[in-house]
Amino acid sequence: MTAQIIDGKETAKALRQSIAGEVAKIKETVGVTPGLAVVLVGADPASEVYVKNKAKQTVEVGMTSFEHRLPEETTESDLLSLIDQLNNDTSVHGILVQLPVPKHIDERKVISAIDPAKDVDGFHPINAGRLATGQKALVPCTPVGCVILAKQAQADLTGLNAVVIGRSNIVGKPVAQLLLQENCTVTIAHSRTQNLPEIVRQADLVVAAAGQCEIVKGDWIKPGAIVIDVGIHRTVNDLGKTKLKGDVAFDEAVETAGHITPVPGGVGPMTIACLLRNSVVACARLNGLPDPVL
Ligand code: GUN
Repeated sequence: MTAQIIDGKETAKALRQSIAGEVAKIKETVGVTPGLAVVLVGADPASEVYVKNKAKQTVEVGMTSFEHRLPEETTESDLLSLIDQLNNDTSVHGILVQLPVPKHIDERKVISAIDPAKDVDGFHPINAGRLATGQKALVPCTPVGCVILAKQAQADLTGLNAVVIGRSNIVGKPVAQLLLQENCTVTIAHSRTQNLPEIVRQADLVVAAAGQCEIVKGDWIKPGAIVIDVGIHRTVNDLGKTKLKGDVAFDEAVETAGHITPVPGGVGPMTIACLLRNSVVACARLNGLPDPVL
């Protein structure tokens, strides 16, 4: 059997279209244009690409994009001052500080300085706590993207054995929380987990967010399982050609899984779409409007 491919590119495109509709509605009802501020400190090449894509897509859905590019040697105090300024700027509804920040800056301090109501990454401890306790929150983008894609394979995930590989604050922990909310039985596995292949073989739903290229092999996959691959690794073959690979050995897993996300074109495109979604939600809440249905 060959798995059905879950198309993240098309799903993200459809989500952006409905976001554009909500942006237009907010403009019409309260005369406010949702604004997203992205802060990049230093010149990490991968971060540069992300920030450029974010700005482009923000404008495409009709929102305002504010870009703040600061030099590598920016002090923590200067960065915190900028965040304070953005927190108090009524034309800014979402604030994202691109990670990683340079080593001399305390990432936790930066995240905690962002107004939780504008924390469109959902990384602030208030938002993480609200998610964990089932309260209204801003939820991290990649995890939301993973769940949207899993629900394309199966609209109701209730009762599924879900195995999340990875325990980061950005993906592993929040995706586990979201899957609990979807009534899955959730196991969080990580680099110290014993018998990882055996645990993954029990999974009806696998979310691979280990950050290790093709760590999940095809014979770990339960027949018919839903496989969501968060990994993105640039590899170079013998001919010097670059290929992107995930945390899952796709060519093997596609033979056994029921549904699987490709890399590229799976979870990746969903992250920015979900960031725009969070920005519109933040804007609506800040203006006393009901949450948009997206
Ligand atoms: N760096 C890599 N992924 C992310 C993300 O989702 N948000 C932020 N702020 N930085 C990142």
